[in-house]
Amino acid sequence: MSVTVYAPASMGNVGVGFDLLGAALAPLDGQLLGDKVSVSAAAQGINLTASGRWADKLPSDPQQNIVYQCAQFFAEKLNSQQGLNLHLQKNLPVGSGLGSSASSVVAALYALNEYFEQPYDQQALLKLMGDFEGQISGSVHYDNVAPCYLGGMQLMLDAPGKICDAIPHFKQWYWVVAYPGISLSTAKMRALLPEQYDKAVAIDFGRYLSAFVHASYQQDSQLALSVLKDVLAEPYRAEGIPGYSDARAALADLGMLTTGISGSGPTLFSVTDDLATAQKAQAWLDAHYLVNEQGFSHICKLDEQGTRRC
Ligand code: HSE
Repeated sequence: MSVTVYAPASMGNVGVGFDLLGAALAPLDGQLLGDKVSVSAAAQGINLTASGRWADKLPSDPQQNIVYQCAQFFAEKLNSQQGLNLHLQKNLPVGSGLGSSASSVVAALYALNEYFEQPYDQQALLKLMGDFEGQISGSVHYDNVAPCYLGGMQLMLDAPGKICDAIPHFKQWYWVVAYPGISLSTAKMRALLPEQYDKAVAIDFGRYLSAFVHASYQQDSQLALSVLKDVLAEPYRAEGIPGYSDARAALADLGMLTTGISGSGPTLFSVTDDLATAQKAQAWLDAHYLVNEQGFSHICKLDEQGTRRC
C-alpha cells in the first residue's frame, strides 16, 4: 500500500491575528503550492528521498529532515518493525513565510497516520503537528499547521480538546502573495519582537482581532478590511524585510484593499475583490518586490480542503 498526501501553503497571522489566525492558500491557476509526501512499505529501515524545486535546500543528511523524524516517531510510538520508504516533494521554499515547515510536517504526519490506519484522531494529530513544527520554528504556534491541515481560515482557540476552529472567510477576496526569493528564519523574526507591549497596543490587538472575527461571521467585508491591522509584529518586522514598506505603499496606490506580512515573512499578502486589480498588483510585485529568480507570486483563493490524499 502507498499513501501520497498534499499539504497546502499557509499564511500565519493573516496580519490581524498574531499566532492565532491562519489561512490555507490555493493558487487561482491550479498550480501546486504545497509539499507532497508519499509513504510505502520498505524491506527495512526508514528511507527518505526528496525531489521538487526546493529539495536542494533540505539538510543533506535525511535523518536531519523533519519528515524522517516524523516517520521515526510513528514507528517508535506504534512499536512497528515495518520498513518505510518516504518521498518528500519539496514545493515550498524554507523560511518564506508560506508555512514551508508546516507543510512538510503536516503532509508527513497525515500520510503516516493514513498509512498506519489512523491511530491518531484529528485533534491528537494536530497537537503532534504543532509539536513537530515547533521544533523547527522555535516555538509551538498552530497558525500554519492548523490551516494547512484543515483548510480555510482557522482561529486558534487553545481550549481543552479544541485547538482551533474554522471561521467564515470572504470568498470574493483574492489574496496576492509574493515571495521575494530570500529566506528569513521564523526564530530570528520572532526575536525582533518586544518582550512586552503597552496596554494600549494589547487593547488594540484584542479589538482588531475580535472585530475581524465578528466581521467574518457577519460577512461585513468593509469592517473586516478596516480592522485587518497588525499592531504586534509588522511594526518590528517591516524593516527586516527588504522592500516591504515600499511595496505596501505601492499596492495601496494600485487600489489593493490591505497588505500584510504572511507569517514571519518575507512573503507578503495583499487583498482585493477585483481580479484585474490583483493582476496589476501581481505584475508590480514581480517587477519590484522579487529580488532574484527564486522569487514568485500567485493570485490565490483560500484552500478550503486543507491536506488531502492525492
Ligand atoms: N505566527 C508565527 C510568527 C508564524 O509570526 O512568528 C510564523 O510563520
